[in-house]
Amino acid sequence: MVAENGNKPRVLSGIQPSGNLTIGNYLGALKQWVEVQNDYDCFYCVVDLHAITVAQDPAELRRKTRESAAMYIAAGIDPEISTVFVQSHVPAHSELAWILTCMAPLGWLHRMTQFKDKSAKQSQDSIGAGLLNYPSLMAADILLYHADLVPVGDDQNQHLEFTRDLAQRFNHLYGETFTLPSVMNPQAGARIMGLDNPTAKMSKSEASENHAIFLLDDLSRAQKKVMRAVTDSHREIRFSDDPERAGVNNLLTIYQAITNETQEVIEAAFADKGYGDLKRTVADVVVGTLEPLQARYYELMNEAGYLDSVLKIGQEKAADIAQDTLKLAQKRMGFLAPS
Ligand code: TYM
Repeated sequence: MVAENGNKPRVLSGIQPSGNLTIGNYLGALKQWVEVQNDYDCFYCVVDLHAITVAQDPAELRRKTRESAAMYIAAGIDPEISTVFVQSHVPAHSELAWILTCMAPLGWLHRMTQFKDKSAKQSQDSIGAGLLNYPSLMAADILLYHADLVPVGDDQNQHLEFTRDLAQRFNHLYGETFTLPSVMNPQAGARIMGLDNPTAKMSKSEASENHAIFLLDDLSRAQKKVMRAVTDSHREIRFSDDPERAGVNNLLTIYQAITNETQEVIEAAFADKGYGDLKRTVADVVVGTLEPLQARYYELMNEAGYLDSVLKIGQEKAADIAQDTLKLAQKRMGFLAPS
C-alpha cells in the first residue's frame, strides 16, 4: 500500500496526555517531528485512548489533552503542514484496535517490556486489560495511516516491531492491506534519563521533584533541576556507557540533542572544564529551548478557538484516511458491509 498524498512518505506519531510533557518527550519525539514535517506527510495525534490504560482523572485528562496538542504546535509543528488531532476523535482507532487485539498472540503481548514494567507497579487485580492490549491500539494508530516512518524515543522500538509483526500476520492471512512501518530514533536523545536517577528513563509520571524537566517548568526551576542533577565523583567530562557515569553522560546527551553538535566537538569543548561548568552550560541551552516554546504555548492557549479549530480540521483529515483503511481491513476479514 502506498500513502495517498502525492509522493511524500507518511509519518505518524503520538504522545500520551498522561502527565506534563518532559524534555525527554521533546528530545526523543517532538523535536524530530518538527524536523521531518517538510519532507513527509505527517500525522501527529494526542493518544488519549492510550492514556486511559491507567486511571486518569476526567477533568485532568481533558485539560492535558488540549495542553499536549498546544505543546505540539508550540514545539514547532505547523498545523498548516502537519495534521494534528486527538486519537479518540477518530473512532477508527478503537475499531481497528479491536480487530488487531483479536489477532495479537498473548505471548507477544506478555513479552512487551513496557507492560512488564508498568504492570509490576500495580496489583494484578487493578491492572486493566487495556494495559496488556496497549500495543495493538498503537499498531492501529500507525497502520490506519499506512505510515512509513514512526519517530519515537527508543522505549517504543519494541512496540514498533510488534506493529510490523502484526501487520505482516494480517497481510499474510488476508492479503496485502497494511504498510510495514519503520522506526525512527533521533541520533541523540532517544533515551533521556532522570536527573535524580540517571539509570532510569525520564518519565512524565514519576513523582519525585528533581526527576524530570517539564516543558512548562518555570525557567529558574528548570535551571535548578539541571544544577542539582546527580553526577559522580570523577572529573572527566566525556560520553560513556558506564552506569556509574550515567549522570554526566545524560547531561552531555541533553546538550548534544539540543545543539546537534558531534560528541567529539562537545568533549573537546568541555576538556578542561568542571561539572559545575557543564551543568551551567546545559542549563543555559535547556532554558534557551524552553523559553520560546513556553512563549508560543501561552500565546496560542490565549487565542480563543484556535486550538479547537486545528483539532477539528485534523480530525476530519485523519478520519477520511483512517476510515478507508478500516473499511478495507474489515472487508478483507469478511465483515458484511452495511447496505
Ligand atoms: P509516551 O507518551 O510515553 O512518550 C511520547 C514520546 O516521547 C518519547 N519519550 C522519550 N524519549 C527520550 N527520552 C525519554 N526519557 C522519553 N520519554 C518518552 C517516547 O519514546 C515517545 O516517542 N506508546 C507511545 C505513544 C503512542 C505512539 C503511537 C507513538 C501511541 N500510539 C503511535 C508512536 C506511534 C507512548 O507511550 O509514548
